[in-house]
Amino acid sequence: AAPGLPAVAGTAAAAAADTGSVAVQIVYGTQTGTAEFLADEAANAARAKGFVPLVCGLDELEISTLAAVRRLLVITSTYGEGDMPDNAELFWQALAAPSAPPLAGLFFSVLALGDSSYDGFCQAGKNIDARLAELGATRVLDRTDCDLDFEEPAAGWTAAALDALTGVDADVVPAGDTPPSTSTETTVPPKSQWGRKNPYRATILANTVLSGPGSDKEVRHVVLSLGDSGITYQPGDGVSIAPINDPALVAAIIDRLGVPGDTVVADRKGQTTLTDALTHRFEISAPSKYLVDYIAQRSGDPELTHLTATGDREALDAWLWGKDVLDLLDVDAALHITPEELLAELRPLQPRVYSISSSPLAHADTVHITMATVRYRSGERMRGGVCSTFLADRCDVGRDVGVFISTNNSFRLPADDSAVVMIGPGTGIAPFRSFLHERAARGASGRNWLFFGAQHRADDFSYADELDQLTSDGVLTRLDLAFSRDQDHKVYVQDRMRDAGAELFAWLDGGAHLYVCGDATRMARDVDAVLHDIVAEHGGFDPAAAQDYINALKKSKRYVRDVY
Ligand code: 2AM
Repeated sequence: AAPGLPAVAGTAAAAAADTGSVAVQIVYGTQTGTAEFLADEAANAARAKGFVPLVCGLDELEISTLAAVRRLLVITSTYGEGDMPDNAELFWQALAAPSAPPLAGLFFSVLALGDSSYDGFCQAGKNIDARLAELGATRVLDRTDCDLDFEEPAAGWTAAALDALTGVDADVVPAGDTPPSTSTETTVPPKSQWGRKNPYRATILANTVLSGPGSDKEVRHVVLSLGDSGITYQPGDGVSIAPINDPALVAAIIDRLGVPGDTVVADRKGQTTLTDALTHRFEISAPSKYLVDYIAQRSGDPELTHLTATGDREALDAWLWGKDVLDLLDVDAALHITPEELLAELRPLQPRVYSISSSPLAHADTVHITMATVRYRSGERMRGGVCSTFLADRCDVGRDVGVFISTNNSFRLPADDSAVVMIGPGTGIAPFRSFLHERAARGASGRNWLFFGAQHRADDFSYADELDQLTSDGVLTRLDLAFSRDQDHKVYVQDRMRDAGAELFAWLDGGAHLYVCGDATRMARDVDAVLHDIVAEHGGFDPAAAQDYINALKKSKRYVRDVY
């Protein structure tokens, strides 16, 4: 090792190499698995360059061992409006604390993932990047911030960052050393041939409405065939579905541009027709911020110009609510825009991830999803969710759709038969249906407690018969229901949790794992607050000790969320 600098070792691979090897610690902060996927890709690239990659989640990296790391690549997404993803939160608290160790011997680079339509774009990565430098670490390559279209910038960053790390003076690891951190050398399994760039065409086997005629919502159960694709998944995973845009909206935009639909256009994927590009390649519902700025400039529309100039994100969001690309073009009916000008301002059409509601053991060779169809009126037209209306309105049985699995290693049933508590109102029930069927199929003995909530029992009690059956089979130990609108005051899942606080705390204290799935901004936040109250009251803790208790649950992956 260089003088005064501790060596960083790999395990198996380093020990096996006669000459010793150079370790690169690759850590990821992830909510949906994308950063983890990129970390695995970076590990492959690192290995190809002769490094020993050590891959782990940020929550597995002890801050006390970070000072002994020499080369570090951080890949992190941002959650919501600028927050750390769940598995990075505790690491960030430790890194941001005044007690964080100096990191003068560390060489690093950060890849930040985000969505520029949210405030706090890539904020988690920005914070970690700034703090590492503040603690004295050397940034070998400037941070790359990726928008939804992350593949190319991520690959570019990976190659450049590994090159930059090659320049860091060698600290060769003697064979047989053990690593100072908890990281393990991962053998990356061969990647499924089906992925974002090459989705599997899955045939739709069923597409039914679960909700009753009196419901405000249209909740659907969709069954997709995995055929002979060889695709496997685990309960907790998501399935990404490549949507196709609404042909009526495509036609209306083409009409507005005033050119034929078969006009040839070019984008980064090559040449195609305007109709094809708007149908399969670009987001035409929510307008990108580039398009908003572009239309503001070109049209000179006083309201829009004012909104974009003041930087008042909230006012702009309020104005944008329910507006799509056609509405933006119609801000100024006299404005002439060419197809190329428009496409240059649009974002690539993204697959949508749904939590899988089936179990691979109970529902062989299929993937089920449980989704709410998003529909609303805005202005003169009905609008809807890009993928949910595609599935609801244009995906009859027999048709096929592009899919790939979005692995979510942070949302897993306990490896043993520990008790689980599942909180999943609305379509948040999806992964828990998977969990319950999985445990039933395995004959797992662990206790299972589900909290489900919806507006009305008569119309919105998804999978009522199955839950009944699972109860009589002894799989579902306890089911607590919150039908919010069946009485004169609202009753939510967190009210049921509070009612059962003593018992819920007893389950948790006895080692139960707690899962939350569904709405992030209101439900998951309110459930979290009630959880703190329950732990404080029934554990006899003050608020700070209750916080520590819940942090410990998170750290041991016994409080995990799949929220959106
Ligand atoms: P509501 O529509 O009557 O307000 C599934 O969508 C269920 O979640 C519905 O019963 C809905 O109730 C409820 N819900 C709405 N806001 C919630 C919140 N902040 N916490 C928990 N449940 C909520």
